[in-house]
Amino acid sequence: MSKIAVTGGAGFIGSHVVDRLIKENHDVVVIDDLSSGRKENINDNAVFYEVNICDPYLREVLGKESPESVIHLAAQASVRNSLANPRFDAHTNIIGSISLLESCKDLCIGKVVYASSVGVYGEPQYLPVDEMHPIKPISPYAVSKQTVENYLYYYKKTHNIDCVSLRFANVYGPRQDPNGEAGVIAVFINRLLQDQKAVINGDGGQTRDFVFVEDLAKAVLLALEKNTECNVFNIGTGSEVAIEKLYNNLKKIVDSSLFPIYGEPIGGEIRRMYVNPELVKKELEWMPETDLKSGLKKTISWFRSRKKEAI
Ligand SMILES: NC(=O)c1ccc[n+]([C@@H]2O[C@H](COP(=O)([O-])OP(=O)(O)OC[C@H]3O[C@@H](n4cnc5c(N)ncnc54)[C@H](O)[C@@H]3O)[C@@H](O)[C@H]2O)c1
Repeated sequence: MSKIAVTGGAGFIGSHVVDRLIKENHDVVVIDDLSSGRKENINDNAVFYEVNICDPYLREVLGKESPESVIHLAAQASVRNSLANPRFDAHTNIIGSISLLESCKDLCIGKVVYASSVGVYGEPQYLPVDEMHPIKPISPYAVSKQTVENYLYYYKKTHNIDCVSLRFANVYGPRQDPNGEAGVIAVFINRLLQDQKAVINGDGGQTRDFVFVEDLAKAVLLALEKNTECNVFNIGTGSEVAIEKLYNNLKKIVDSSLFPIYGEPIGGEIRRMYVNPELVKKELEWMPETDLKSGLKKTISWFRSRKKEAI
């Protein structure tokens, strides 16, 4: 049992990571400014500080709580927002992360696990994408993720902080926000449960690698607990799912007869993406346990229960 600080612990992924840490008897400190996270997501057994990671008060919080490790998930997580406002994206994602890492260095915090993204690869040159694939980010968001990975390498080499970057594929599951620029699964489920047509941008043949959030939380904990020489891992299933097929699967599970609307393709959208998860399997002994159908069913149940609560 140890004390772990989780930045972004009120968010979609962060709240599942916190739940798992608490289940495994760790003390958890959540640091979140609630800009997109929700207070009700935070596990009752965690200590919560409403703090922006860019605020100098962050250092005071970390000094007071003195965690052994940090799981860094707080971010401006929207690609679209990063295109509209790259300065804000860089401020939160890069400057905020450097402030956090400087505090870790000064306070002798030994380990940092970071939420990066497969977005750093840009348009894949081959599939499945492994960790050796060239890094060619095509959004300010992906540039910020790559930049922080580089800073983590620097802090690891120069200041001896054990830093691990996890490049998440497309994460889905309970608590994902279906509004704004959310994961496509949350958006589709929300529309279908409201008996409204969902929009598929383009022809629906674009593919993604969907990983269930509870499986991903397990990967984050393994990265925290295990010592490895590798400092970057892809976290995905290794399976490629077309968006149109995904929609049809969801339609079947919720027993809907609604056909989607086909909208304009999104400019610059990557056509195909799925990762090679062999390195994380070998080094961290992580395997995704939830197949897509079971994960979708669990996610739909959560959306249904939320809908009932709202009535
Ligand atoms: N969801 C995905 O498919 C996906 C894929 C790749 C990478 N990621 C990364 O995983 C992490 C978590 O993403 P998520 O999907 O849970 O998003 P989210 O928006 O639900 O979580 C982000 C959390 O960070 C908090 N936050 C934002 N700016 C902050 C700041 N300046 N100070 C303190 N807290 C701040 C938000 O309030 C929120 O609780 C992010 O770093 C994101 O870039 C997510």
